[in-house]
Amino acid sequence: MANKMAAIVLAAGMGTRMKSGLVKVMHTVAGAPMIAWPVAAAFDSGVERCVLVVGHQQEKVREYFSGRDEVSFAEQSEQLGTGHAVRCAMPALDTAAQTVMILCGDTPLLTAATLRGMLERHRETGACVTVMTATFADPFGYGRIVKGEGGGIVAITEEKDASPQERDIDEVNAGVYCVDRAFLEQAVGRLTNDNAQGEYYLTDVVRQAAAQGLDCLAYRVGDAQEISGVNDRVQMAEAARVLRERINRELMLSGVTMIDPAAVYIDLGVRIGRDTVIHPGATIKGKTVIGEHCEIGQGALIKDCSIGDAVVVKAGSVMEQAVVRDEVAIGPMAHLRPGTELSPHVKIGNFVETKKAFMGEGSKASHLTYLGDATIGRDVNIGCGTITCNYDGVKKHQTIIEDDVFVGSDVQLVAPVKVGRNSLIAAGTTVTMDVPPDSLAIARAPQVNKEGWKLRKK
Ligand code: UD1
Ligand code: CA
Repeated sequence: MANKMAAIVLAAGMGTRMKSGLVKVMHTVAGAPMIAWPVAAAFDSGVERCVLVVGHQQEKVREYFSGRDEVSFAEQSEQLGTGHAVRCAMPALDTAAQTVMILCGDTPLLTAATLRGMLERHRETGACVTVMTATFADPFGYGRIVKGEGGGIVAITEEKDASPQERDIDEVNAGVYCVDRAFLEQAVGRLTNDNAQGEYYLTDVVRQAAAQGLDCLAYRVGDAQEISGVNDRVQMAEAARVLRERINRELMLSGVTMIDPAAVYIDLGVRIGRDTVIHPGATIKGKTVIGEHCEIGQGALIKDCSIGDAVVVKAGSVMEQAVVRDEVAIGPMAHLRPGTELSPHVKIGNFVETKKAFMGEGSKASHLTYLGDATIGRDVNIGCGTITCNYDGVKKHQTIIEDDVFVGSDVQLVAPVKVGRNSLIAAGTTVTMDVPPDSLAIARAPQVNKEGWKLRKK
């Protein structure tokens, strides 16, 4: 193919303004590391291969993208500036790529549509360099776009190097470029670090292009917010808010109701069916899939769960790695831990905790219960206060309860133990032996009534 597209994404810096032990680009923003967003936008815009320039904590970045052949890495062991970073990336670039898109790993709001628009413009104009720009009411901190008489860019001046007149320029550098590869190759080789920060600025390639009489044009985006870079945690929170807004908007347009979208926290990649209603404070993370006609209550926290249709999750419930079939009711304040599987029409009530527990169709545990390492059949009633005593201090043991069993309130099931089908466990029983089918199991001290006892005490 004639003009292939490759991208370079700069991600070697530590991000000192984050004041963090974690490298900036690996901070999670709306469910994905910051760097995942611009990389995804680049691929969605038609880029075929991406070289990530990595340095600080590069093992974390490499690990996140491992297994993706279209992503390769270039190491920048010392962060000598954005120009130096690009220089490090050049040898790793696809040889067939004649145009290079350069992005920063800290601009998660950039969209593929904007990148596509920029690419198209770059091709139409045949410019040597196209720089994405935007106008900001407060351009502080960004490189300023200095234009010549013909309207082309002649220089980009960093905040720290700018003269007072240059500081007044409100058109800023987004840090996103399309550059002719052959030009870039020689230009980054010629950069110097003769500036306020003693860095090799990528932005200085613009000066070189202008000096050689090559076209350097601005691609100005209307939505300045899209190009906001994240340098500190205040900006990161703002970016996350915008990304959540986009996620929520897409879900709402696909048929999901949100009572207050500003107070709903849904990660990238979560899927939710139509006519499902999400209440304020709900947080839905990871690989969660939720069906149609569900109701996700206030403050529910759901991570990596698979939830069927018409499921009601009441307020304050916490669920992780649970599989929930259709028409199940959960909560309020239930805790479904990994390995929970609930068949259709199961009911899990308040203050019930489950872990590695299977419940058959129609079974209920309505109040104050712990079910761990348990296999429970169909139409079983688990009384209030039931506990599977699954742990002996060394090992976990299984509890099996067959179909149609009625477990009374305040029962302890000391595992390993099996309760045969259609049996009844009397309230207050501590079950230490298997119970045969169709039986009554009762284990409690007989009651003694001492009449007149209270009067005698007085
Ligand atoms: C840069 C631009 C500025 C632009 C702004 C947009 C330069 C000199 N300045 O400034 O004109 O307005 O982005 O957000 O390019 N990085 C490396 N190696 C390095 C230095 C940086 O990989 O040696 C990476 C960082 O990890 C980061 C990105 O490059 O992801 C941008 O670096 P940063 O220091 O944030 O640049 P800005 O000062 O924001
Ligand atoms: Ca930045």
